[in-house]
Amino acid sequence: MSSSHGIAIALFCIAFLLGGISVSHAQLSSTYYDETCPNVTSIIRGVIDNALLSDPRIGASLLRLHFHDCFVNGCDGSILLNNSDTIESEKEAARNNNSVRGFGVVDDIKTALESACPSIVSCADILTIAAEESVSAAGGPSWTVLLGRRDGTTANRTGADISLPSAVDTLDTLKEVFLAVGLNTTDLVSLSGAHTFGRAQCPTFSGRLYDFNSTGSPDDTLNSTYLETLQGICPQNGNETGLANLDLTTPDTFDNNYFSNLQLENGLLQTDQELFSTTGADTIDIVNSFSSDQSAFFASFVESMLKMGNISVLTGSEGEVRLNCGIVNADSSRSESFLHSSTETRDNTEYKSAI
Ligand code: HEM
Ligand SMILES: *[C@@H]1O[C@H](CO)[C@@H](O)[C@H](O)[C@H]1NC(C)=O
Ligand SMILES: *[C@@H]1O[C@H](CO)[C@@H](O)[C@H](O)[C@H]1NC(C)=O
Ligand SMILES: *[C@@H]1O[C@H](CO)[C@@H](O)[C@H](O)[C@H]1NC(C)=O
Ligand SMILES: *[C@@H]1O[C@H](CO)[C@@H](O)[C@H](O)[C@H]1NC(C)=O
Ligand SMILES: *[C@@H]1O[C@H](CO)[C@@H](O)[C@H](O)[C@H]1NC(C)=O
Ligand SMILES: *[C@@H]1O[C@H](CO)[C@@H](O)[C@H](O)[C@H]1NC(C)=O
Ligand SMILES: *[C@@H]1O[C@H](CO)[C@@H](O)[C@H](O)[C@H]1NC(C)=O
Ligand SMILES: *[C@@H]1O[C@H](CO)[C@@H](O)[C@H](O)[C@H]1NC(C)=O
Ligand SMILES: *[C@@H]1O[C@H](CO)[C@@H](O)[C@H](O)[C@H]1NC(C)=O
Repeated sequence: MSSSHGIAIALFCIAFLLGGISVSHAQLSSTYYDETCPNVTSIIRGVIDNALLSDPRIGASLLRLHFHDCFVNGCDGSILLNNSDTIESEKEAARNNNSVRGFGVVDDIKTALESACPSIVSCADILTIAAEESVSAAGGPSWTVLLGRRDGTTANRTGADISLPSAVDTLDTLKEVFLAVGLNTTDLVSLSGAHTFGRAQCPTFSGRLYDFNSTGSPDDTLNSTYLETLQGICPQNGNETGLANLDLTTPDTFDNNYFSNLQLENGLLQTDQELFSTTGADTIDIVNSFSSDQSAFFASFVESMLKMGNISVLTGSEGEVRLNCGIVNADSSRSESFLHSSTETRDNTEYKSAI
């Protein structure tokens, strides 16, 4: 190739790149807060470490908040918004109500950040960093997160009802729900590995324990020893307020035991066990590979978390940096008296709809 030819191609490429930049949205960046809030990660980690002292489950709860944020209208902090005259909250959607938790810790993080670097760090980025720090604090991988998300000014309760998976979905439905946000089957399996820590309430798995799918018997892909344990936690016709560890072996550690549990029919949720026990499924090999190689699981989990954290993000001048994660700024600046309180209750008697 002649040099003039090369220069022409180079100029064309530069023009193409510039054109691309001018029409596309700003990208997330790992250095986004380097000048404006350099200690953002350690400030968030400090609040989480402190919360973990009294609540060993909180890291799992924060990771789940990021997941439920990103699957509904993208990672825009919308799950944090309370009901108001203009907001029908996602936190009261069926899959979230009396189930997602950690809002108080997010508020504590926001308070600490508003003190260190006012009006800089978005609530959507708080959830992203908190998810990564929670995984790493529990013994899982740490990774460089991409930042610069802006907060949305709306919530979408109907979207939450449609876009979040249910614990009784079939494997085919799970694949569809993930594919709808650009996540493939490997992402489904690696991200399900988040169930290596945290808890689930009886109504999310008790359908497997006594009369599974109207068969009159327990789920036959549930280990009989584990079945007895779970029946003790959730007695038949009991009030279903019990909590079970999602990982029976190492409940608060982020490791690959979730996958070895599945090989022994010790998955807690129907949707967990389906990844290994669905006849002929392409997910079985992936479960086996993560079970035999923790670093392969960690590498895949990180890749999938970066993909999940990138779903329909707002950047540049889109959205806003919320000053209070529970309220859009327009409402913050008005009287707060009209705000309806939205309770974060731990009682799960109303939980039945959430599975
Ligand atoms: C594959 C589809 C999924 C389904 C059907 C599902 C369902 C559930 C359910 C029913 C619970 C228990 C909620 C309760 O009892 O209140 C739960 C807990 C949890 N989920 Fe998932 N989940 C899925 C995927 C994910 C993903 C992708 C992540 C994160 C990357 C995740 C992270 C968690 C965590 C950490 C907990 C424990 C939360 C706590 O202890 O507060 N899940 N999930
Ligand atoms: C960041 O934290 C370190 C100590 O953890 C402190 O010395 C430094 O002043 C902080 N920087 C800013 C900009 O707050
Ligand atoms: C809410 O989510 C649904 C389902 O994803 C979507 O069809 C709808 O456009 C969303 N509404 C808004 C206002 O974003
Ligand atoms: C539940 O039962 C229905 C009807 O008998 C069957 O089609 C379906 O595959 C069963 N589901 C599971 C998870 O076993
Ligand atoms: C539910 O049952 C447990 C154990 O049987 C009991 O300790 C608890 O008080 C009950 N909770 C409610 C709300 O009835
Ligand atoms: C049931 O789980 C126990 C360990 O919890 C394991 O030893 C046993 O092999 C499992 N059974 C099956 C059928 O996988
Ligand atoms: C699924 O996505 C992962 C990244 O998360 C990628 O490495 C892999 O190649 C994809 N698999 C398929 C079958 O497209
Ligand atoms: C994030 O999404 C943007 C826009 O869809 C895309 O250009 C970029 O490659 C994605 N980055 C990652 C890490 O997935
Ligand atoms: C939003 O609701 C939560 C409970 O879900 C509460 O703790 C918080 O104070 C509320 N925030 C605002 C700004 O009203
Ligand atoms: C959410 O749960 C609370 C407490 O159980 C209940 O009062 C409220 O009606 C529920 N919200 C929705 C939208 O169902």
